[in-house]
Amino acid sequence: MPDAIVAEGLVKRYGQLVALDGLDLTVPEGTVTALLGPNGAGKTTAVRVLTTLLVPDAGRATVAGIDVLRHPQALKSRIGASGQYAAVDEYLTGFENLEMVGRLYHMGVQRSKERARELLERFRLSDAADRPVRGYSGGMRRRLDLAGALVANPPVLFLDEPTTGLDPRARLDLWDVIEELVAGGTTLLLTTQYMEEADRLADAIVVIDHGKVIARGTADELKTMVGGDRIELTVDHVDKLAIAEGALQGLADGEIHLEPGMRRITVPVGNGSQALVDAIGLLAASDVQVRDVGLRRPSLDDVFLRLTGHEAEQYAAGEASSNGSGGAKAAERLEATEGKSR
Ligand SMILES: Nc1ncnc2c1ncn2[C@@H]1O[C@H](COP(=O)(O)OP(=O)(O)O)[C@@H](O)[C@H]1O
Ligand SMILES: [Mg+2]
Repeated sequence: MPDAIVAEGLVKRYGQLVALDGLDLTVPEGTVTALLGPNGAGKTTAVRVLTTLLVPDAGRATVAGIDVLRHPQALKSRIGASGQYAAVDEYLTGFENLEMVGRLYHMGVQRSKERARELLERFRLSDAADRPVRGYSGGMRRRLDLAGALVANPPVLFLDEPTTGLDPRARLDLWDVIEELVAGGTTLLLTTQYMEEADRLADAIVVIDHGKVIARGTADELKTMVGGDRIELTVDHVDKLAIAEGALQGLADGEIHLEPGMRRITVPVGNGSQALVDAIGLLAASDVQVRDVGLRRPSLDDVFLRLTGHEAEQYAAGEASSNGSGGAKAAERLEATEGKSR
């Protein structure tokens, strides 16, 4: 499969600050890659370079087969971009906004109107089509912004933090829309601070921090990198914990963790589902009754913490404080992960 996006050694400095520090990236045609990183990691800078809005200090990039630096004008009609800085006009209606985009692409009056109607329908905005955008909810604005990026039917799409700031319902809604979109074969580079967003939407994940790639792979590969799965078992009696520990030693891929108060034993393992079957067999053979059993895959939050040594959320001050519990949650998770790795 040819690559729809190729970036090699992209560097962008703002004075002393290095926003991109030799970023390499490839996105095969028809696939979705998530550029995952905390606030300030360089995601928007990368998207701006790849969409011709910003000239890098070093490196090269090709999008849809076109050299981004040499032929920016030729590239413009082949890409769509939307996200963090919504390009919608507050005082125009949804319909007028999309129609205007069509006209900017020289699509002609008739075709522009048709396309606007089509997209409003597809993004469930038909009912709001003739209302000014200033009355739209956050989720509706994002959908309109996304629709705007699709007016010219670009084969390559860039979405910069498409769901940041949306409530959970609007986020799920937008995920559905994005999934439909990529099912149609569009190549997508998506930036996000949300591990579950990358997990849900992307074929491949590129984790960046301080303008550099710190890991790449599928969600599963990244999770495995952190140490695979964890089996959590509750036994019938606290006295059986030591027996269980002995029986499961051979399966463990790291240190076994005991919580006597909960009668619980946590075992890090390589292949979770197979190990789970084996564990139950071994415990039965040792005459240990199992009350409850669970398999926990490490979250992408665990991945980020392990790779960078800091919580992803600690950067996202605005986001975290909006629900008032971001910091506390982050601290809790930090403890949970550290506890299990010891
Ligand atoms: N126009 C600018 N002038 C100076 N510094 C900038 C500018 N744009 C971005 N930066 C800095 O570059 C770094 C990367 O920013 P950005 O690409 O916006 O990160 P992200 O989108 O991942 O949050 C940050 O430290 C940011 O403060
Ligand atoms: Mg950004």
